[in-house]
Amino acid sequence: MKKQKEKPVTLEIDRLQKIVAEQEEVIEKLRVDNLFLETLFDGIDEEIMVLDADYRVLNVNRSFLERHGIDKDEAIGKKCYEVTYHAEKPCDQENRLCPLKKAAETGKRVEVTHRRDDGKSGAKEMIRIMYPLVMGGGEIKYFIEISRDVTEYRRLIRKLQASEKKFRTILDTATDAILSIDENQKIVLFNNAAQRIFGYTRKEILGKDLNVLVPPQYGDHRRFVKHFLEKKIPRAMGKTLSLTALRKNGEEFPIELGLSYLKMDQGITFTAIIRDVSEQKRLEENLLRSERLAAVGQAVAHVAHEIKNPLMIIGGFSHQIRNNLDDQKAVQKLDMIYDEISRLEKLVANLGDFTKEYRLVKRATDINSVIRDVLKIMAEIYQPEKYSFIEELSSNLVEIPCDPDKLKQVFMNIIANGIEAMEGGGSITISTASLPGGVEIRIADSGIGIEKDKLLHIFEPFYTTREKGSGLGLAISYKIVEAHKGDIWAQSNPGEGATFVIRLPNE
Ligand SMILES: Nc1ncnc2c1ncn2[C@@H]1O[C@H](COP(=O)(O)OP(=O)(O)OP(=O)(O)O)[C@@H](O)[C@H]1O
Ligand SMILES: [Mg+2]
Repeated sequence: MKKQKEKPVTLEIDRLQKIVAEQEEVIEKLRVDNLFLETLFDGIDEEIMVLDADYRVLNVNRSFLERHGIDKDEAIGKKCYEVTYHAEKPCDQENRLCPLKKAAETGKRVEVTHRRDDGKSGAKEMIRIMYPLVMGGGEIKYFIEISRDVTEYRRLIRKLQASEKKFRTILDTATDAILSIDENQKIVLFNNAAQRIFGYTRKEILGKDLNVLVPPQYGDHRRFVKHFLEKKIPRAMGKTLSLTALRKNGEEFPIELGLSYLKMDQGITFTAIIRDVSEQKRLEENLLRSERLAAVGQAVAHVAHEIKNPLMIIGGFSHQIRNNLDDQKAVQKLDMIYDEISRLEKLVANLGDFTKEYRLVKRATDINSVIRDVLKIMAEIYQPEKYSFIEELSSNLVEIPCDPDKLKQVFMNIIANGIEAMEGGGSITISTASLPGGVEIRIADSGIGIEKDKLLHIFEPFYTTREKGSGLGLAISYKIVEAHKGDIWAQSNPGEGATFVIRLPNE
């Protein structure tokens, strides 16, 4: 009986003790949570303010107090604008928007940037983020503002942007092509000059493999980058290399290339500065050729001069002897001697052509019509079923002062060479284009082409590879173009035909 009475009491005590223990646990947890929040609140580097809807400061953290140099009781109970800006009214000027007003209206987080100048540490840029605390029932009574000093960060960004802009300007005004690739040989940078030199737009080329700019004879260029990545020895770095590159139109051209590399977190970038030296090379070759031609011309003039007088004497005397001879056989032999002498005299006269200056009869001329005239004659001479002539004449050519008859000779020489290079037939394309200082004429054939070492000699007098050629066609053409102060050169890859380019100035 006794036991039965006692049981509910002890049970009740147990139950209460359990409740107390549970609540103590909750209180302990709350205490830990509170401590955690307080530590966070005061340990965080950002300034934090707790406000009511009337701008009144309910609490601020340690960072806030330290930055403003005040105690907590100097802040609590005051208005936020009094504490932060010593102002009498809430912020609402154009350059200092009040985030609280907007957060109260929208119920959403509002971010603004304020400039603050406390007169001591200079102007500061602050990002202020206002969080409305939405209570049960949707009411907003309190706000938490977290502010971060972004002065240094923004200054760095501005500095970075300025240096990026400076870098861009240098990059895009450089006359040399500048391009970079990443470790996977993908092109990641391509400046204006690179666009002009290679013929690709940035949009077309960025992200593409470097392959597209490298002529096939170099094989797999990946091995160079691979070698570098494996050995970490910059074999080609810091040197100037003379190489060949490939334009979009398939043309190969000589370049000078300097390489550098940059190791960053994202990987290694290789940058090349590339100079297109095709024009320079061409001028050098022209100069060399002019010198060679001048030397040959001098030698020819000398020989011609030395031969002229003895020939005259031999001719004159043989004539006299013949008139006093009765022996018919001897007369015949002297006639033969006389014929050969005439032939030699003609040759000597022709050789003289190389040494004398070409005298041009210039008049304002439409080059297109000169070309049409030449093609009319050519089409008559060569069988149309075997050879075709294609005209690609520019419609906006200006007239240039030149000697059209001499130029006809040039075009005919070049076309005749093209025809001879296409034994089985083919096509000759003649195009004209207007240039800033004159006109350009291109004559392209689909013949056997000219090997590199031969290209150097084709304009020399007496250079020929044809059995019946005299090797004078191009030498004469060169002299005529030179007399016009123009430029002539040939481009060719064996097996892919040859293109002769002539540039004539409009003065
Ligand atoms: N379109 C071409 N295709 C291939 N080779 C060419 C072409 N034009 C010129 N050549 C080469 O250049 C050489 C010199 O040409 P050039 O016109 O001066 O002399 P040629 O044609 O041999 O003789 P000719 O005095 O009768 O013109 C040629 O023999 C030939 O080897
Ligand atoms: Mg010829």
